[in-house]
Amino acid sequence: MKILAIIGASKNGNTTEIVKFFEKQLKNNDNSIDFEYLYLSDYPINFCVGCHNCIFVGENKCPEYSKVKVIEDKMLLADGIVLATPGYMFSMSGIMKNFLDHVAYNCHRPKYFGKKAFILASATKWQAKGIFIPTKTWASGAGFEVSSTTYAEMAPFPLKTKEIEKIKSKLSKSALKFHKELTNKKELKPDMGSIAVFYIFRTFCKIMPNILKADYAYFNEKNAYDSKTKWFTKAKISNLKLIMAKFMENQVKKSISKVIDMDKLKEVNGGYKNKLI
Ligand SMILES: Cc1cc2nc3c(=O)[nH]c(=O)nc-3n(C[C@H](O)[C@H](O)[C@H](O)COP(=O)(O)O)c2cc1C
Repeated sequence: MKILAIIGASKNGNTTEIVKFFEKQLKNNDNSIDFEYLYLSDYPINFCVGCHNCIFVGENKCPEYSKVKVIEDKMLLADGIVLATPGYMFSMSGIMKNFLDHVAYNCHRPKYFGKKAFILASATKWQAKGIFIPTKTWASGAGFEVSSTTYAEMAPFPLKTKEIEKIKSKLSKSALKFHKELTNKKELKPDMGSIAVFYIFRTFCKIMPNILKADYAYFNEKNAYDSKTKWFTKAKISNLKLIMAKFMENQVKKSISKVIDMDKLKEVNGGYKNKLI
């Protein structure tokens, strides 16, 4: 089993310490695990400039594509990923945020189905929320099943043995949980939010195929407009959830027609910028 740890931290700090311990605990459960460390600092990617090419035209049109692709190819080969970040300014580290900006388009066109993700943070309880909301949203939006999230309060000053033991115990339990999830081969059971995304996005790009070109091509490839297609990929979805998702889709259709200028939309090719001045 292959695990890729994507680390947005220094190689000798607290986050690395946590990842190393987590790896050790995972291997205690299964010593055949192949655990790769990927430090984002070894893959310098310029900041996202907001060209929107990845979302509108295709990820291969991103100016940083060749560098991002190397990491994406590694994620595609892994059974699971660990996203590890310290808590900086009540959020994730800047290098992790920049990475997520570059792979954000996957939330429009998810491809990581059947793979698991675990979010690990070297942060206080107060910082954890600001880290977990965006990282979990990205991972599940991209198609990963998010097994869990854990923060370890690794303060940059000496902790008492009792505190260290608490952190170790928490991380051991987390590793056990992640291992269980990794070996769980049950059929995908997406949550309501992930189901709704499929219906809402397929509608969005059908209304704006001249803007959301790459998304529209993706949804056509997935046969998303065929009444037999229920989701991005094969999954267990109850009829009640399907009804709710289609209801949301209709609501979105109605609200789009209230805010989008359909006449102007017809003239657009690619992204559009509304002028205030
Ligand atoms: C730039 C920076 C910003 C930080 N911001 C916060 C913060 O907002 N709140 C907090 O409790 N700790 C903050 N910390 C402390 C780190 O979260 C903590 O030391 C963490 O364990 C560092 O992990 P690392 O050694 O892998 O970088 C910050 C540290 C740095 C370097």
